[in-house]
Parts: sequence; C-alpha cells; structure tokens
Amino acid sequence: MIEDLNVSVIDHPLVQHKLTLMRMQETGTKDFRELLEEISMLMAYEITRDLPLVDMDITTPVVKCKSKTLDGKKLGLIPILRAGLGMVDGIVKLIPTIKIGHVGMYRDPKTLAPVEYYCKLPTDVADRTLIVVDPMLATGGSAAAALSLLKEKGAKHIIFLCLVSAPQGIEALNKAHPDIKIYTASVDQKLNEHGYIVPGLGDAGDRLFGTL
Ligand code: URA
Repeated sequence: MIEDLNVSVIDHPLVQHKLTLMRMQETGTKDFRELLEEISMLMAYEITRDLPLVDMDITTPVVKCKSKTLDGKKLGLIPILRAGLGMVDGIVKLIPTIKIGHVGMYRDPKTLAPVEYYCKLPTDVADRTLIVVDPMLATGGSAAAALSLLKEKGAKHIIFLCLVSAPQGIEALNKAHPDIKIYTASVDQKLNEHGYIVPGLGDAGDRLFGTL
C-alpha cells in the first residue's frame, strides 16, 4: 500500500493545475519547459519547509536584532540526465547558492540494467543534503541505480523529487532505498507495456527538449 511507503504527494493546487497543463498533448515545448520550471520551484518550496533555522545577529537601518537564517547541512541538487535538467532552473531560482552535480544513466539494451555514463558531483557530497530530481519515476530502475551511485560517492542524506510516478516505481525505489524520502506531485495508475506511465505525460525528455 502506497500509504505505508516513504512517499509524500505534493497536492498544492498550483502544482496540480500546472501538472494538468503539462499532461495535455497539445502543450508545446515552450510551455512544457516553463511549467516544469514553475512546478519545480513550487515543489522545492514545499520540500524545504522543514529546513532548520538559527538566529543570527544583524543590524537593520533601525536597530540591532536577531533574525532567522538557514542552519544545518548545505544543499546539493542532482538532476538525472537528461529530463532532470528541466527541474534545475526553478529550484536554483529559489536556492541560488545550491551546488549542482549531474548523473547520467542509460539502460543497457541487452541486460536492461542501468549503466552510469556520467557523474560529476560537488566534492563535499557527504556534508550536503542532496535533492535528486527526475520528472518521471517509472520502473524506478535508473533512479535506484543513481541513488546507489550517490551513496557510493559518500552521500548520506538524500531526498528524491519527481513530478509523476508509477506505483511500481515508488515501491521499487522504497525497497532499494527505504531511507530516501520520495516527493511527487502525482502517483498515477500504472506503467503500460512500453514502460510509459499511464496517464502520465509521455516522454518528459522529448517534450522538454523538443525531440519528439
Ligand atoms: N519516462 C518518461 O519520460 N515518461 C514515462 O512515462 C516513463 C518514463
């Protein structure tokens, strides 16, 4: 049951409205890109609401006072190539100092196993909370492999942020990485025989980059 898994659905009305627009097949590349950026920003706002704060001494033009500032671990943003790139700009607008790493995975056509083809990370991943982004969580295979890779490289605190997910993907990712919380805007019905999420929004990478 999805309720027993380490997953949270971001049901903010603006997120849900924009997701509906992204699902529509008549939505073109320009709008799709802008909507993904906007939704990513809104989702980042929601997932960072529990970040710890600490008091800092400042001087306003009027008086000296204490004021809140972010405390604790620094953040890192890791898009999974290539569709994850579409979620970067919205999050960077909210958190401009965030460090960005990239992970590229492809599926071996013979073994169907995910294979890493690119990995470039901030040097201090162990000291950062990493937000790993990929708009579509389908089988969960490449996401699970990407998260394993990040742990091998020393990452200790990771959250996974996607837009649309399939129940199978959530279960698989939770089984492989029960410590990693998944945030999604929607848990859709299922995967079809071609590995597409139903109802989904089609191939996110192709719609984002106009390679349909
Ligand atoms: N990747 C996509 O881009 N879309 C799907 O539906 C599944 C995987």
